[in-house]
Amino acid sequence: MLTARKLTVLACYAGISMMGSSLALAFSSGPPSGLNGSTASGGSDCSGCHSGSPGPGSVEIIGAPASYQAGALYNLTIRVADPGQVGAGYQFSVEDALGAAIGTLSPTDANSQFNNGFINHTSAGVSTSITDWASLGNAAEFQFTWQAPAADAGALTFWAIGNAIDNSGSFSGDTLYLTNQTASIAADIPTVSEWGLIIMLISLMTAGTIIMVRQRSNLVPVRTRG
Ligand code: HEC
Repeated sequence: MLTARKLTVLACYAGISMMGSSLALAFSSGPPSGLNGSTASGGSDCSGCHSGSPGPGSVEIIGAPASYQAGALYNLTIRVADPGQVGAGYQFSVEDALGAAIGTLSPTDANSQFNNGFINHTSAGVSTSITDWASLGNAAEFQFTWQAPAADAGALTFWAIGNAIDNSGSFSGDTLYLTNQTASIAADIPTVSEWGLIIMLISLMTAGTIIMVRQRSNLVPVRTRG
């Protein structure tokens, strides 16, 4: 039987095939990249296909540092919550001021996939979100890691979009949530330079010599009683 959901999907696929695009392949497993409202996305989001009225929910970036340590590995969670919906998808990126992707985003399970500078849900991830929705308090959580770049990349922005879905198969009942937060590089722990060590050593030796000379001049010959 053709459900409304299947019809929508078919219509969409037909439209895409008519455009002669190979994008349909990408849709079966996740969204196209560059749609989380970020600088690299040019401010675009998923609303080109998914739409709905504003909802009472939210998207949160959990575990993102306010100041990052070069080379450090961070466990991040994207939490999409909405009491009026039943599941979710997302897209996330870490970018510098010019929109260049910074560091390494890696999926830690089958619910997320790397996507051309972004990370987002897989179709398995959407199914998982629907299964776990109630137990997470009407929310979905997607976990992955971000490794900060080895060198200082300056100020960064974490960008996330969450799409809370009603799973009806129509694009119109979905609710999009956008958020972003910035991070600066953590101050380096000062290290003692070689010159610093040499100067410290010379000072210690000088102080030691002065003390020894003083002690010697204070020595009074012991008198024997006659
Ligand atoms: C060009 C159109 C298009 C854009 C843009 C798009 N999607 Fe989709 N999306 C689809 C199609 C088609 C489906 C249904 C096919 C499927 O389930 O894979 C879908 C399905 C989904 C689903 C599964 C729920 C459902 O209704 O089947 C989620 C979740 C989702 N998209 C999230 C997103 C997110 C998040 C973005 C933005 C980062 C996005 N989509 C951008 C076309 C799009």
